[in-house]
Amino acid sequence: MELTAECGEGSDELLQSQTLLWSRIFSYIDSMALKCAVELGIPNAIHSHGPHITLAELMSSLSLSPTKTPHMRRLMRMLTHSRIFACSGEEVYSLTPLSELLVERDNKNRGTSCLNGYVLTVLHPVVVNSFQSMSDWFRGNEDTPFSVAHGCGLWDMTDRDPEFNRVFNEGMASDAQNIESLMDVGGGTGSVAIAISKAFPEVKCSVLELQQVVDTIHNKGEIDFISGDMFEYIPPANAILLKVIH
Ligand SMILES: C[S@@+](CC[C@H](N)C(=O)[O-])C[C@H]1O[C@@H](n2cnc3c(N)ncnc32)[C@H](O)[C@@H]1O
Repeated sequence: MELTAECGEGSDELLQSQTLLWSRIFSYIDSMALKCAVELGIPNAIHSHGPHITLAELMSSLSLSPTKTPHMRRLMRMLTHSRIFACSGEEVYSLTPLSELLVERDNKNRGTSCLNGYVLTVLHPVVVNSFQSMSDWFRGNEDTPFSVAHGCGLWDMTDRDPEFNRVFNEGMASDAQNIESLMDVGGGTGSVAIAISKAFPEVKCSVLELQQVVDTIHNKGEIDFISGDMFEYIPPANAILLKVIH
C-alpha cells in the first residue's frame, strides 16, 4: 500500500489502517510498562500513600532519582491511558480497579488476590522470548515455540533455572487464588466437592458424574451435579479435580 496525501474516503481508511497497525506494533510496550510498574512497586506506593499521589511524591516514595522524573511522567501517562492508574488534576495519580489487583495486602486483598506474580511470570523473558520463535515453530517440527526458543520444554526449564522456577510457581500461585469454580470429574456423590465448598464458599463446586450415579443423589445441596461422560465433555471450570482411590 502506498502512502498518499490525497483527501477522501480512501485516505481516511488508509490513515485508520496505519493507526491500527502502529497500535498493534507498539502494543507490547503496554505490557512492558505494566511489568515495570509492578517491579517498581508503583501500585503499592500509591496504595500506601493513597488515595492520591503526586509525581514528586511517587518518585520519592520509590526512592528514584529526580533525574528520572520526566521518564516517570511518560510511564504514568502510558499507564493512565491503559487504565492501570487514574490521573486527576495535574500529575496526581490514584489506583483504578485494575491496579487494585496489583496491590500486595496482608489481608489477601479483601476477597481478591494480588496478581503481581502472574504479571511477572507471563512477562518473564523466558516466556516472552518463546513468542519470538512462532514463525520458526510453524516452519519446523518442534512441539512448541518455547522449545524452539530454549531447546527444551517448559518443565525442563523450571528444573534447569531455579530463578525462573521460583517466579513461575509464584505466578501460578497468585493466579490460583482467583479460582471461582471447580469441577470434580468423576466426583462420585460429591463428598470432596462438598468439603471444598464448605471450606471455600466463594468457589462454585460441581461434580461431573455418570448418569446412573447422578440419578441416585437426592439431596444435592450447594453442589451442581452434571451427568456426562468425561471422555466426551468436561464442563468449563477454573480448576478440575481428578481424585482417584488409592
Ligand atoms: C473411583 S471413583 C472415585 C470417586 C471420587 N472421585 C472419590 O475419590 O471418592 C470413580 C468415579 O468416576 C466415575 N466415572 C467413571 N467413568 C466416568 C466417566 N467416563 N465420566 C464421568 N465419571 C466417570 C464413576 O462413576 C465413579 O464414581
